Amino acid sequence: MTETLALKYRPKTLDELVGQESIKTALSNAIKDDKLGKTLLFSGIRGTGKTSTARILAASINCLNVEKPTINPCGKCRSCQGINTGTDMDVIEKDIADDPSVDGVREISQNILSSPISRKRIYILDEVHQWSKSAQGAALKLLEEPPSHALFILCTTEPQKLLDTIRSRCIHFPFKAVGNDQIAGHLQYIIEVENITIEESAVKLLVNLSGGSLRDCLSLLDRVRLETPPITTAKIYSAVNAIPENLIMDLIEVITEGNIVLALEKVELITAEEGFTPQEVTNKGLSLLTEIYKLKAGYPNDKLIISDKERATKLAENLDNFTLNCLIQSLNEAHKNIQYAGEKKAIWLEVAVLNLMMEIGKL
Ligand SMILES: Nc1ncnc2c1ncn2[C@@H]1O[C@H](COP(=O)(O)OP(=O)(O)OP(=O)(O)O)[C@@H](O)[C@H]1O
Ligand SMILES: [Mg+2]
Ligand SMILES: [Zn+2]
Repeated sequence: MTETLALKYRPKTLDELVGQESIKTALSNAIKDDKLGKTLLFSGIRGTGKTSTARILAASINCLNVEKPTINPCGKCRSCQGINTGTDMDVIEKDIADDPSVDGVREISQNILSSPISRKRIYILDEVHQWSKSAQGAALKLLEEPPSHALFILCTTEPQKLLDTIRSRCIHFPFKAVGNDQIAGHLQYIIEVENITIEESAVKLLVNLSGGSLRDCLSLLDRVRLETPPITTAKIYSAVNAIPENLIMDLIEVITEGNIVLALEKVELITAEEGFTPQEVTNKGLSLLTEIYKLKAGYPNDKLIISDKERATKLAENLDNFTLNCLIQSLNEAHKNIQYAGEKKAIWLEVAVLNLMMEIGKL
């Protein structure tokens, strides 16, 4: 199998890391001034650069081609290469999910004692929130007095699950969700280098579906690349099994035209035939209507999360503020009801459609 895009484009220097500006500055300064400390905590949502940064840091510290830690590791020496392939003797990556027990921590405590071949022995511990209670207790001791040659980089998506006492022993670096503009820029670069044929609206959709995670964005691109080019929004919607925008737009249209039979048939089509859950319908409906509302309020067109801008513009023109507001309120109401409903969730969609048509005077 060919390498995934996420792996191929894993950043190798802090410069290449997209976003995370304050973390980049703080880490660069800490490396230059030799003030890194012994225990770092990298937290934040999936696929935002925690493990990548941990590896960059390890290479920055242990690169053999420089006399002291550098922010520009060479990428070629035995250490740098071993770190990138996960085979370095001094930089050990462990996924705590594989062994969350206290024995796992004891093993690390033993291993950390022997001197490193290069400058430091570095443990990159992933998913540390998986540690059991007793393992956290043991980890606390370990982190209290690590040997001077040790560096621990704890990574987690759920830092709140760690003991306060562990967190307070770490220098904490909270990774942010990567901004849409930054994801778009990175994606555009990869699309050009890889010569991928993709429509502009599809690029925007990929960015929006990634939810701030660069890995999710690249994984999705890997997936839709398997389709026959060009990559379109329809192919992406189908690949992620998301409700196509036009289905929801159809529904909004028949509701506001006052066609009760067609409106209920549409609900039936989307849920029973196409197989989307009522929750997916209300979610997509709410996000789409909010974008249409923004469009109506004069929000810049190119910032909107809508693929079919032409149709959305027509909808925005045809819907008055009162109707738009009613649509959003009813869907929101349905959204809440569906959350708490047992089995008959779809009924709340029908109720919302009926209420709405009544409210806007179409029934
Ligand atoms: N900030 C970023 N800059 C550039 N690429 C990134 C960034 N974040 C993620 N990526 C891309 O996503 C891939 C995975 O990133 P990484 O393993 O560092 O994420 P993570 O934060 O550790 O995720 P997880 O919480 O799932 O372990 C990278 O190989 C890279 O292709
Ligand atoms: Mg990771
Ligand atoms: Zn090197």
